Amino acid sequence: MPMQATEVSLPAFLEAARTRVETALERWLPAAERPPADLHQAMRYATLGNGKRLRPVLVYAAGRVLGAPLEALDIPACAVELVHAYSLVHDDLPAMDDDDLRRGMPSCHRRFGEALAILAGDALQSLAFQVLTQGDEALLPGRVRARMAALLAEAAGAHGMAGGQALDLAAVGQDITPAELENMHIHKTGALIRASVRLGALCAPQPDPERLAALDHYGKCIGLAFQIQDDILDATGNTASLGKEAGADRARAKPTYASLLGLDAARDEAAELVRNALRSLEVFDPRAEPLRALARYVVERHH
Ligand code: IPE
Ligand code: IPE
Ligand code: MG
Ligand code: MG
Ligand code: MG
Repeated sequence: MPMQATEVSLPAFLEAARTRVETALERWLPAAERPPADLHQAMRYATLGNGKRLRPVLVYAAGRVLGAPLEALDIPACAVELVHAYSLVHDDLPAMDDDDLRRGMPSCHRRFGEALAILAGDALQSLAFQVLTQGDEALLPGRVRARMAALLAEAAGAHGMAGGQALDLAAVGQDITPAELENMHIHKTGALIRASVRLGALCAPQPDPERLAALDHYGKCIGLAFQIQDDILDATGNTASLGKEAGADRARAKPTYASLLGLDAARDEAAELVRNALRSLEVFDPRAEPLRALARYVVERHH
């Protein structure tokens, strides 16, 4: 199967990883007809749409480098995508970015109303930790599950994504320094991407500290590069291909890499981060090829 080959094309790897995680998500999400049906439908709507599934793909790619079993990787792959889906639902709310379009569809609160969107986000986050902590000991031992839950909680919380989102909201209309902008991006977006790589690595039987550190550095670099590219695409892309409203950052006076440094410097910064990420993968054999391709994809993508 494509995910086990050493020299595999990125599209084949992406396709296999996406199919795997979407199948697993479908199983974990509550059935649409079960009451409270409107909440369950909102959770499914926010999760099962058109996402790129970058974070789960990173879980699989990092885990496979260290020989982790795919069945174990399904668990953190699902959990991190559920937290990500929740973060998007809340990010789009009127009190936050007030965006009407997400993944080419009306955003969750536009479709289900604000109250249900808030609750769907809450329930998706809870489900993520249920996925991580409930299940077969043989698939993933309890002590590994507990470590993963702590890691994901930190990445999603006040010292991670939620903290970064607070910095983002406080920065609206403000002059911030490049260092402050970098700090905001590392937290609001970088933390979950970095956690995805670490979660995948934790599924390996005996991850060696040096390789874990190399993967972690990779995750840190591409996490920041991903948000820089998101800023660039907001300024240069179009709504139809992005599946979310282009130009929203400027319209809402959000400081971004594009507005603060200019497009050329933003592109240079993202490219340098990718080179840095690739350097940290030099210790790995060809099984790291999907990770290398993903690093390049982060800055070459058009949506
Ligand atoms: C969008 O993330 C929000 C950011 C953190 C920049 P993605 O671009 O990964 O969104 P989906 O999951 O593919 O829709
Ligand atoms: C998103 O940053 C960060 C999240 C934690 C969801 P953005 O606000 O730039 O993401 P988009 O552009 O709406 O996807
Ligand atoms: Mg935002
Ligand atoms: Mg937003
Ligand atoms: Mg954005």
